[in-house]
Amino acid sequence: MHMPTISRIATRACKGPLGRGRLEESGWRSFSASSSFDKLGVIGLGLMGHGVCQVGAASGIHSEVIAFEPEQQYLDRGKDRIEKSIAKLVSKGKMTQEAADETLGKITFTTDMAQLMDTDFIVEAVIENINLKRDLYSELGQVCKPETIFASNTSSLSISEMAGFSGRPQNFVGVHFFNPVQLMKLVEVIHTDQTDPAVFDKAYQWVQDIGKVPVSCGDTPGFIVNRLLVPALMQAMLMVDRGEASVRDIDVSMQLGAGHPMGPLHLADYIGLDTCCFIVKGWVELFPDEPAFVLPKILQTKVAAGELGRKTGKGFYHWDGDKRGDPVE
Ligand SMILES: NC(=O)c1ccc[n+]([C@@H]2O[C@H](COP(=O)([O-])OP(=O)(O)OC[C@H]3O[C@@H](n4cnc5c(N)ncnc54)[C@H](O)[C@@H]3O)[C@@H](O)[C@H]2O)c1
Repeated sequence: MHMPTISRIATRACKGPLGRGRLEESGWRSFSASSSFDKLGVIGLGLMGHGVCQVGAASGIHSEVIAFEPEQQYLDRGKDRIEKSIAKLVSKGKMTQEAADETLGKITFTTDMAQLMDTDFIVEAVIENINLKRDLYSELGQVCKPETIFASNTSSLSISEMAGFSGRPQNFVGVHFFNPVQLMKLVEVIHTDQTDPAVFDKAYQWVQDIGKVPVSCGDTPGFIVNRLLVPALMQAMLMVDRGEASVRDIDVSMQLGAGHPMGPLHLADYIGLDTCCFIVKGWVELFPDEPAFVLPKILQTKVAAGELGRKTGKGFYHWDGDKRGDPVE
């Protein structure tokens, strides 16, 4: 399962009272002289992985970044994404040509998993499918040196479960980046019951070393951001279900009363009501006793009717491409 927009919007939704600028002002950013990870590996160069690869290489703390995709066409696509993103930074004057060349020069693009063998830290960002990740981690556990630390960028899968597949649960953490990785500062660093505290500390430090802001969280569904955000969207939908307030009034209230850049129903439409439904259904099945995980009737009705929000032109609102119209009566 992918939660592309959810991560981006989730953080966007916090931009008011707790946004990027405020965090930087508050001195949360701190850099250490060097990272203890010499060689970084990145698996999967899609939407998230290409960004992690770029940011890792640009940080200057790694001697080399090994970027792995199993198929040449996807490797080429990832490389192209990185090159374009770096070229954009250069054209905007945000990066010198010299730094761009140095960053690209650090990355080794490969379809050969054996090249990951002596990496110190690997960030995995392959598609959100537990079977695929199981096979990958089983293989990776065999291929890499025993000290290599694995970190999954999963949004919704259990870190503990993947750690088990890897055969090295003590050397396993989650690093949950937000989209787009190049811009978004937050990274949730996830530990399981079996993560070696020294391993967690190294991963946490690495996040700081690449210029991001780490937060620590246990292996709980949705980690911090989505665990708080998704139930809030569901509560807004339940209010509609109960006829307590209109779509417009709920959204206006959270914008003007709580300082959110967009209301919860607008946000749900933006993410995709099918994605919201998929996430919550999974949580309800896995955690039937958690009262925060509920599936509103209106969400199920809209998804069944194909009213998925922005992507289908109709959800809680009418949409014209990216432009939001009036609430659906
Ligand atoms: N998209 C988001 O906003 C977002 C945010 C945070 C976390 N995540 C998580 O990041 C991970 C990747 O998401 P994405 O949006 O970048 O997906 P994506 O589909 O854009 O990219 C996944 C990449 O993995 C590659 N891949 C598939 N099988 C592979 C394998 N066996 N080995 C190596 N590479 C393989 C694919 O070719 C593809 O390039 C998921 O776990 C997702 O939950 C996504």
